[in-house]
Amino acid sequence: MSSLPLNSEPTSLPSAPGERSDTRSEPRTSSARAGSPVAPTSGQLAFQLPSELPQLSIAPEWKDQQRLWGHSFHPMCSYLASFPASLVHAFIARYTRPGDVVLDPFSGRGTTPLQACAEGRIGAGNDLNPFAHILTAAKVDPPTKADIKTRLVALRVAWAATAGEWNEIADRVAADPGATELMVPGPGSRPIGGSMAARPDSSVPAEVALAFHPRTLAQLLYLRAGLDPDDRTDRFILAALTGILHGKSASYLSAVMPNTFSMAPRYVREFVSRTSFHSPERDTFALLEDKVRRLYRQPVPAARGIALLGDARDSGVRFRESLRARGLPERARLVVTSPPYLRVVKYGYYNWMRLWLLGYDASAIDDLLDDAHHRDAYLVFMREVLRGLRTALADDAVVALVIGDVEMDRGRPANGGIGLAEAVWELAAAPEGYRLAGIALDDVAAGRKMTKLWGEEAGQATKLDRILVLSTSEAGRRRAIYGASLPIDWSWPPRTPRAL
Ligand SMILES: C[S@@+](CC[C@H](N)C(=O)[O-])C[C@H]1O[C@@H](n2cnc3c(N)ncnc32)[C@H](O)[C@@H]1O
Repeated sequence: MSSLPLNSEPTSLPSAPGERSDTRSEPRTSSARAGSPVAPTSGQLAFQLPSELPQLSIAPEWKDQQRLWGHSFHPMCSYLASFPASLVHAFIARYTRPGDVVLDPFSGRGTTPLQACAEGRIGAGNDLNPFAHILTAAKVDPPTKADIKTRLVALRVAWAATAGEWNEIADRVAADPGATELMVPGPGSRPIGGSMAARPDSSVPAEVALAFHPRTLAQLLYLRAGLDPDDRTDRFILAALTGILHGKSASYLSAVMPNTFSMAPRYVREFVSRTSFHSPERDTFALLEDKVRRLYRQPVPAARGIALLGDARDSGVRFRESLRARGLPERARLVVTSPPYLRVVKYGYYNWMRLWLLGYDASAIDDLLDDAHHRDAYLVFMREVLRGLRTALADDAVVALVIGDVEMDRGRPANGGIGLAEAVWELAAAPEGYRLAGIALDDVAAGRKMTKLWGEEAGQATKLDRILVLSTSEAGRRRAIYGASLPIDWSWPPRTPRAL
């Protein structure tokens, strides 16, 4: 849903050039100028004709809220095509009560489950991307402020004792960027004050070596080798680290690329050599402490949520199992989700540096995810997802699917991308027995869209997204229609106890 407002750095940015020979996942824009970085543009365009399906008149008030509306954990790390927490609130406030379960089978950076927890609901998210899973888990199952402060102090103390060794390693890496024979301790291979399954050593990609000052790189290598993603506190620290890894201000560890997504490795190399780029020295611990302070501006949500790692197609069964295991209601009253679109975002490739930090291979993740389907395969995929979800839905559940139109498929007009939400209804949801409450339209201000990041033209092109609102019964359909016009409270943090 590239036309939804982004929650980070909503500016026009140079775009990530494609580099891999895998053209399957190589976006291109027809408007890219020769010599300039090629934009990963896949514009999503307004469906200019009125939809033939009934409209649901939910006023898109979420667009009138401040950019960072919602819990202070939301902006932990930017994530392409995330929707704003205010959009999730528009559904949570209308269709759930405290204690109800709210699901998102494609949770991305965890917007739906976190906002649900922050409003006293049980938020449960699932994603097949391990980076998304870490972000979601960090947000819905966070450590206390005291725990994280204690751990940060311990990490600094342990760093002081070993800094010389790590600085030496980083100096060797910086002296010969990309040397494959130069091995450094791999992610999780040198636990700091705990025990983890050791992982093998690995070499550092040249673009990583070029992106950071050697002193910063030393601290990063130390934390990467020492933090345990299965530990609640360490996972939160790792997730916060991904959020400050690169960006264009002094609060980021490298200024080599924007914070929104990873520029292509080849672009990084060319940029470094063209501009004689040397990253300024940044103290990882100080920036991490600042980041954590910002994240903990608001109290930790009282309700703990659930983060699952797996395929959305069988998420229904897994949601139920994990809710049951915790003694919670097994069926959800609300789903708010945005599935991946047709070949729009490559979640691995555009996050390759964050994935390096976490110890994952970006191209393996893109091979795994369903973010590269053409229309027919996409509709089969969506049908399977909706079928699998039913088992985890209460009889009167409301299901909101945010699906925009996809105009361009990597530089060429997309085949069947316009009216995608309507097609999902007709060919995926209706055959699985869902009822249609209606389609809510969301016209988006051109300056606040994700496609804007990828070039002016793409940004200008997008005007509408669609929110397909479904249910599994007539009672649910009526509930969805009746609730659409209810006024809701937009104060945040809330003045009433709704979020406690
Ligand atoms: C549009 S994003 C969701 C963003 C989310 N609403 C947020 O606010 O952060 C779609 C997500 O689908 C995930 N995904 C792709 N294929 C999947 C699959 N088969 N099962 C589960 N998740 C998948 C991607 O990793 C991505 O995080």
